[in-house]
Amino acid sequence: MTARDTDWDGVRLHVVTGKGGTGKTTVAAALALALAGSGRKVLLIEVEGRQGIARLFDSSPLPYAERKIAIGQGGNGDSSRPGGDVYALAIDPEGALLDYLAMFYGMRSAGKALTRVGMVDFATAIAPGLSDVLVTGKATEAARRRVAGTGSRYVYDAVVMDAPPTGRIGRFLNVTTEVSDLAKVGPVRAHADTVANVIRSPQTAVHFVCTLEEMPVQETLDGIAELRKIKGIQVGGVIVNMARPALLAGDLHQAPDLPALTAALTAAGLGDTGQLAADLAAELAEHADRVELQDRERAELDAAGQPIYELPLITEGIDLAALYRLAAELRDQGAA
Ligand SMILES: Nc1ncnc2c1ncn2[C@@H]1O[C@H](COP(=O)(O)OP(=O)(O)OP(=O)(O)O)[C@@H](O)[C@H]1O
Ligand SMILES: [Mg+2]
Repeated sequence: MTARDTDWDGVRLHVVTGKGGTGKTTVAAALALALAGSGRKVLLIEVEGRQGIARLFDSSPLPYAERKIAIGQGGNGDSSRPGGDVYALAIDPEGALLDYLAMFYGMRSAGKALTRVGMVDFATAIAPGLSDVLVTGKATEAARRRVAGTGSRYVYDAVVMDAPPTGRIGRFLNVTTEVSDLAKVGPVRAHADTVANVIRSPQTAVHFVCTLEEMPVQETLDGIAELRKIKGIQVGGVIVNMARPALLAGDLHQAPDLPALTAALTAAGLGDTGQLAADLAAELAEHADRVELQDRERAELDAAGQPIYELPLITEGIDLAALYRLAAELRDQGAA
């Protein structure tokens, strides 16, 4: 496992993408907890309006405001290091779009005939990418925000974004080209340039969450290749999630010695040992296949040349304790 610190040093905005269902929300939350160790203040942003973060932290739905939801890794279990605070913000992209239209064009009143869905469809048709730039704009604003009066101190030490899936991430982050047509449509242009400057700077890193299966690995490799083509965008780490540990060392594909296994089971006082030995042997073979597949997929990811971190499958499911465990894994492996 390699850990190149350049993916964390100086990075203020961590964008977490990955194939749907591979654990983006979970890993983004764990990363926020990890980053919030040692007294740092972190903002965790959700951008798809699904309240996944609130669910994860057993909190009531998040308002459209930054709210403290947890204490960072150092504060939990390690009393020598006070944990910083994790704040969360759920951005509702449709709400942000409607607010924008209302503010600059008075469309909310002018468009009374249009339903909410109609307004969003209309805005998307005349200004594709507008909703994305409003969302990325909020994240970059939070990452750059300074404490009033100090002029220099940042409000947040890091911002973590639970971002759209790999299929959408290129378009989502490619602010400049997506938004260039909008110059005609509204005052968003200057804002878009600021946003693009942050996204395409060493202050932003895009991390990929991936499980060790064919489709997620392929999507990760495609996503990395796509982002590398966008000038200035920095690909960060690949976080392998839900990895299953290899339970046994050695050559797993070597067929087990059935008579010896049967004898051992008999000696252990178990009944119907013949059947039991056969079942065990079948499970061993299945485990061997899975470990082999994981190793193959891991090698493919390695070839992409990004630092790789690995988080275990937590069979008991994800609760707050599990999130802290994943955060500790990330810190131990040099992330954050
Ligand atoms: N390391 C893990 N061990 C066990 N379960 C996990 C782990 N990581 C994620 N999960 C579970 O996998 C499921 C998907 O995770 P999550 O919601 O974070 O994925 P996602 O990529 O954000 O999904 P979506 O694309 O729907 O937003 C959840 O039920 C989550 O609890
Ligand atoms: Mg999610």
